[in-house]
Amino acid sequence: KILILDFGSQVTQLIARRVRDSGVFSEVYPYDVSDEFVRNYGAAGVILSGSHSSTLEGDAPRAPDAVFELGVPVLGICYGMQTMAAQLGGKVENGKVREFGYAEVRARNHTKLLDGIVDFVTGEGHGMQKVWMSHGDKVLEMPPGFVLMGDTPSCPIAAMANEEKSFYGVQWHPEVTHTVQGKVMLSRFVHEICGCKSDWNMPDYISEAVEKIRAQVGKDEVILGLSGGVDSSVAAALIHRAIGDQLTCVFVDHGLLRLNEGKMVMDMFANNLGVKVIRVDAEDQFMGHLAGVTDPEQKRKIIGREFVEVFDQESGKLVNAKWLAQGTIYPDVIESAGKGKKGQTIKSHHNVGGLPEHMKLQLLEPLRELFKDEVRKLGVALGLPHDMVYRHPFPGPGLGVRILGEVKKEYADLLRQADAIFIEELRNTPYEATVVPGFDQDAVPRNWYDATSQAFAVFLPVKSVGVMGDGRTYEYVVALRAVQTQDFMTAHWAHLPHALLGKVSNRIINEVRGINRVVYDISGKPPATIEWE
Ligand code: XMP
Repeated sequence: KILILDFGSQVTQLIARRVRDSGVFSEVYPYDVSDEFVRNYGAAGVILSGSHSSTLEGDAPRAPDAVFELGVPVLGICYGMQTMAAQLGGKVENGKVREFGYAEVRARNHTKLLDGIVDFVTGEGHGMQKVWMSHGDKVLEMPPGFVLMGDTPSCPIAAMANEEKSFYGVQWHPEVTHTVQGKVMLSRFVHEICGCKSDWNMPDYISEAVEKIRAQVGKDEVILGLSGGVDSSVAAALIHRAIGDQLTCVFVDHGLLRLNEGKMVMDMFANNLGVKVIRVDAEDQFMGHLAGVTDPEQKRKIIGREFVEVFDQESGKLVNAKWLAQGTIYPDVIESAGKGKKGQTIKSHHNVGGLPEHMKLQLLEPLRELFKDEVRKLGVALGLPHDMVYRHPFPGPGLGVRILGEVKKEYADLLRQADAIFIEELRNTPYEATVVPGFDQDAVPRNWYDATSQAFAVFLPVKSVGVMGDGRTYEYVVALRAVQTQDFMTAHWAHLPHALLGKVSNRIINEVRGINRVVYDISGKPPATIEWE
């Protein structure tokens, strides 16, 4: 396995994902782990990430010395290369200008890392590479024992290597897709240089995870809050594979789910997979508490509070349960660990609250090691339908934040129908992708649903005038929202084809009695948010 030390770059997780994509298990830890940790980890190789810091600052973050004494290959990326240079006796200088964007790097002095990677201009081995740069500082002098591995017109030491020790440094970011051969570079590092085998794959992972869950829980009973979302669904399927009827899922229908969601969850889990699922129909309770409430945050609080109450009440009946299972995934673990607290941190799932004290449940988190795309692959390998596993995210408060102002059952019913039409048409409309050479073909979306990160309808409780046949109508408005984003922190509105928008609008107005106007939201985030509330 590969140890990745994180110096705080935003794309460190991508390094781990790319390495895992090439079939080798890798994990991210903060850069300030102890020498002892590094020595005991059992890494076949170490990768040092990028950072916003500068090695020239007084308290610049450093890699543990043990990294360079382990006798295993080390790859420094961006800041990782700079700190490697600084720690091993080279020199780093403060760049006068920040270099940000594409660069063409020429490979120098045949090295194991770059040899044989084809030139992006001539298509032949060992030459020019198109790479992505983002740095201010740069290496001015290589440490003793290093040779030049690559340069660009503005960065004379863009890559360096000490092949005797298998230390490599690259100033660019091989983990981002903009670096055309980045995947190949990382794969060469872990396979050719570190000697790792491709043994990280889903079928093997399932059998290991199943064994681990069995060993962990023994004959105990386990409760899981099933929301219908990807993470809890995959966790349920995996745990069920391991312990069958020792698992009980609690599915709370708060009346703010998408069309047919409750039925779909029950069909999938209870009927197809044979999982024990307790469905709690709490629509009246939620609607009752939401009556008259218009403030978005207030609505969120009420939905959250009621959810916890219903969930706790149901789980409290399962007196033999010893474990609470959650669909915590690896990015949650890294994120919470990065915020000062190291090691085991528990995500406070917005769905699952504090269970009754007397239950003293232990946490079971079988997806803790996996990235989202791995969770999806696992779901498919466990037999969950592709469409369910590749769904857009759906907020915990559900339609509660997609009905502006007061939530009413009447509004929720109209919104559900409109939303289902929108989603159906997105799925049915092919996406004409421009395929860029070097990019992952599997990741190219086939239809507009896959080409958007999140898409949904929003109910606006205002009435406008329309005309239908000979009559005048006076009905509600629905807004369509579709965005494209990497991380949901910023987002662009999706440039959906006009024909698609037209068809969705026609269908909603014709098929949903009570809606006579459809508008499309063309606001970016920022300044708007993705949800309307
Ligand atoms: P915004 O609207 O803040 O949304 O741009 C960013 C992402 O977060 C989701 N979201 C929520 N998820 N509970 C959730 O579980 C919430 O209260 C909530 N509010 C927003 C939103 O759907 C989008 O993916």
